[in-house]
Amino acid sequence: MPATITSIANYFPPDVYTNEYFEKYLDTSDEWIVERTGIKERRFANNGATSDLIVPAAKLCLERRGLKPEEVDCIIVATVTPDHLFPSTACVVQNKLGIPKAWGFDLSAACSGFLFALVTAAKIVEAGGARNVLLCGADKMSSIVDFQDRAQAVLFGDGGSVALVEMSDDPDLGIIDYIMRIDGEGGKFLYQAAGGSAKPPSFETVKNREHFIHQEGQAVFKAAVKGMADVSVEIMEKNNLTKDDISWLVPHQANLRIISATAQRMGLPMEKVMVNIDKYANTTAATIPSCLSQWWEEGKLKRGDKIVLASFGAGFTWGAVYMKWSL
Ligand code: ACO
Repeated sequence: MPATITSIANYFPPDVYTNEYFEKYLDTSDEWIVERTGIKERRFANNGATSDLIVPAAKLCLERRGLKPEEVDCIIVATVTPDHLFPSTACVVQNKLGIPKAWGFDLSAACSGFLFALVTAAKIVEAGGARNVLLCGADKMSSIVDFQDRAQAVLFGDGGSVALVEMSDDPDLGIIDYIMRIDGEGGKFLYQAAGGSAKPPSFETVKNREHFIHQEGQAVFKAAVKGMADVSVEIMEKNNLTKDDISWLVPHQANLRIISATAQRMGLPMEKVMVNIDKYANTTAATIPSCLSQWWEEGKLKRGDKIVLASFGAGFTWGAVYMKWSL
């Protein structure tokens, strides 16, 4: 019996920032941002930390499944913007939700965080290591974005999404297959230079803006187009899936052009691709689950649908998951 997602919910902070917000103080335009990225607006949390993006989504996720905090066995938080380097955000979330008997940890894989954590959670559940995993994908990207750099300020948003992973009630539905990759050679194109043990925080690191994202956009763009498309096609071939078999592609939302290129390589029309980058921008670990939750809430994602989840992010990290939706 495979593991599956048995509940899911989103939380986005209420404050909406349209592209016009950036036009006011940066040399940019709504036209450039929409044309080059597909982003129209995003949410920023003016208060609180990443755990505060998780807690409301986690409460709704548990409520939808009818589970009490006492019944949660394990918490995994995929994020690159943890509340603190330590303790883990999983511990913060456990405490805020009042979950008395769980274990858990954070998982760092940038934009692939949710997929890597989904597979990890599924394997823990399938091995009998936990009855359920509260799987949180959340990032407060506004805490590491350089708002003076037009090439990155416009790309990101804040958001949280939480899924519950348990054994499926149907042997035919759930997480069927996955392909995951990492390549540290790509690390030089997308990173946060300071704050870790390689370069602890100092007056100099703050002055040099080394606590913000460093991204070489074109290099990441090229690698993302190839990485995400290759792995998505590979998982189709491995599972003998034709384009007609697939109900939905659920791609990481970094850039509409990367998403379109992936869909094109898979032979899928855009009508079969979940896209919410226009409303929320790149929320890193929250993009894929937020699409799943939104499409399920809107009744467009149905039990039995064959879906491919695909990601690419800093590391480099990338991967694809094939699952049959069971909610
Ligand atoms: N407004 C106006 N002009 C801009 C802006 C902006 N917001 N940003 C950059 N430009 C300019 C550049 O300065 C450059 O000007 P120049 O030619 O005078 O030097 C010009 O636009 C072209 O810049 P490029 O970087 O070549 O633009 P590109 O078309 O590649 O788009 C972008 C940039 C959107 C960042 C794109 O490269 C991209 O999406 N990259 C991938 C991002 C990604 O997938 N990240 C991974 C996930 S994130 C994670 O893991 C945390």
